[in-house]
Amino acid sequence: MRTSTLRGAAVLFAVFACIWSAGAAGLGMVVGPYLNQPTQHGMVVRWETDAPATSLVRWGRKVPLAEETGAEGLRTLHEVALAGLEPGTPYFYQTVSRDDAGNETASEVYTFGTAVDRDGAFGFVVLSDTQENPVTLRALATYAYGQRPSFTLLSGDLVGDGNDKAQYTEHLFPNMAPLNTRVPLVPILGNHDNNSKYYYGYFSAPEPKYYFQFDYGNLAVFMVDSQKPLRSSSETHQWLDKALGKSKATWKMVMLHRPPYSSDEDDYGDTGKGPSIMGDANVRALAPLCEKHRVDVVWAGHIHSYERTWPLRDGKPVSAKKGVLYMVTGGGGGGLEKAAPVRTPLSAKVYSGHHYCYVMVNGKTLRIEAYDIDNHLFDFVELAK
Ligand SMILES: [Fe+2]
Ligand SMILES: [Fe+2]
Repeated sequence: MRTSTLRGAAVLFAVFACIWSAGAAGLGMVVGPYLNQPTQHGMVVRWETDAPATSLVRWGRKVPLAEETGAEGLRTLHEVALAGLEPGTPYFYQTVSRDDAGNETASEVYTFGTAVDRDGAFGFVVLSDTQENPVTLRALATYAYGQRPSFTLLSGDLVGDGNDKAQYTEHLFPNMAPLNTRVPLVPILGNHDNNSKYYYGYFSAPEPKYYFQFDYGNLAVFMVDSQKPLRSSSETHQWLDKALGKSKATWKMVMLHRPPYSSDEDDYGDTGKGPSIMGDANVRALAPLCEKHRVDVVWAGHIHSYERTWPLRDGKPVSAKKGVLYMVTGGGGGGLEKAAPVRTPLSAKVYSGHHYCYVMVNGKTLRIEAYDIDNHLFDFVELAK
């Protein structure tokens, strides 16, 4: 009995020693490759390793990959900006890292497309509130990639707690991988992202990152962290006023997390007992700016359901050419919410279910589609200039 116990312990020790030495000898990927900041001539490739290592991207128009771009030094969080690319063109890429001991880890070969020029047609995905529901997120990301979008806009609450690194490494990135390995992601913060160092570390965007302009083709998207002060004297408000005024884009969109208008059941007043103020008071301060600068669509999440308003001006439905369309698309994974029990005058369509949106832009026409968790179309709207 005693001999067999000792033999068993020896075998267990050998197994653990073997696992430990394999782990110690290797270099692992914590987060596989993903893409940020698409432009006509560039793409940012990001990944994370489990120990400090070199950053190299092999890339090219065909396989085998003929080009290499790297960054100096050893690090765990890798960020390589590819430059000198052709607009509207497909590329192949692979990430490679090597640590001090010579251990190497390389990704599979993936693909991406550069941004189209100003006359180019394109399509993109909008998702929000991908928090806390890995199974739903993976399904939506897989369906969304099936649309072959040019990029993904993500309007906050990427994770349930932005200060918990594991929620990025074990939930967000692995489950969005079907989309993010091949389609660049353009996110903005929500309240659950907690303004965390992980958010700022993982995503490349123009400074200060809590607001920035993203241009693609004839579209300009103004990304705004709606946790910041937004009244007329605020830094964000003044930047947005100037940036919208300067933009010559055919289509202008603003992306927030909290919605200026919403028919939600209980976030802005308990509609089971009384009235609602129908939207977030802080971000409502941006509505007059959007109307003044003829913004076409304002995107938000935060409410975990879907809503498309009529075109609104001063909070009232008006004709399409005079108003701003407000979208709530918070169905990326978080626990679902519902609309108030009585239809509100600002609302064209509400839907309580997990979903993503797909937007197609071709010159002066734009179509927004919304797909449910079974990838069935449940709403669309077309805009024209
Ligand atoms: Fe949320
Ligand atoms: Fe939120």
